[in-house]
Amino acid sequence: MRRPLIAGNWKMNGTKSSAEALLSGVVSGAASVAKAEIAVCVPFPLLYLGERLLADSGIQLGAQNVCTEPGGAYTGEVSAAMLVDFGCRYVICGHSERREYYGETDEIIAKKVSVSIAAGMKPILCVGETLQQREDGLTEQVIGAQINGVMSRIGIDAFDRLEIAYEPVWAIGTGKTASPEQAQDVHVFIRNKVADESAAIAEKIRILYGGSMKAANARELLSQADIDGGLIGGASLVADDFLVICQAG
Ligand code: G3P
Repeated sequence: MRRPLIAGNWKMNGTKSSAEALLSGVVSGAASVAKAEIAVCVPFPLLYLGERLLADSGIQLGAQNVCTEPGGAYTGEVSAAMLVDFGCRYVICGHSERREYYGETDEIIAKKVSVSIAAGMKPILCVGETLQQREDGLTEQVIGAQINGVMSRIGIDAFDRLEIAYEPVWAIGTGKTASPEQAQDVHVFIRNKVADESAAIAEKIRILYGGSMKAANARELLSQADIDGGLIGGASLVADDFLVICQAG
């Protein structure tokens, strides 16, 4: 049985005071969450606050990016060791916004996944197709290539130490959600792809859905056999909404 993981991705949102209120709200409601593991991936400057406010709450802290290099002269970057020092358990790698706006390639993403695992964190590896790719019937080809782009570089064993998030680009921040059946189909495809290399890892690996998951649709999505949690953007910025999703997990 895979324990569901509900992870908030705050993206580039939050001030010291709004983050304090949001983290406190999530912490105070977390006792009502029976089953799911909860994580929040906050912007770098708010990690110190997350570390302090989530201590002993059972809620995991995560980051949204990491440097490919271990340390040294890389102006503006943040290393995996630094994230661990601030208490991060998770780190998002390969989000479509980073692939699209910051030119992250499979090679870069594979390195980020690899350094994160080496530092003791669990990467959340994001994959997903654009609307054009879906309409052209290329969904499986695109996602297969994204998985291969990491697996061929770091090996199947690393997949025992990461989570995958399926985030259809056309559903991110658009209010459009993949239907439970559409999402389930892609999750099965991803699990089968992992199973081609290791049936045991495929059975264990958590595959999260991300893309306009919200309080109103979480239960239906999360009831699918191969949807093992959610990576939540907008709805993770409102404590009550996020908690409803956590309870649905
Ligand atoms: O990583 C989460 C994400 O991209 C989905 O964002 O706002 O559609 O829930 P949102």
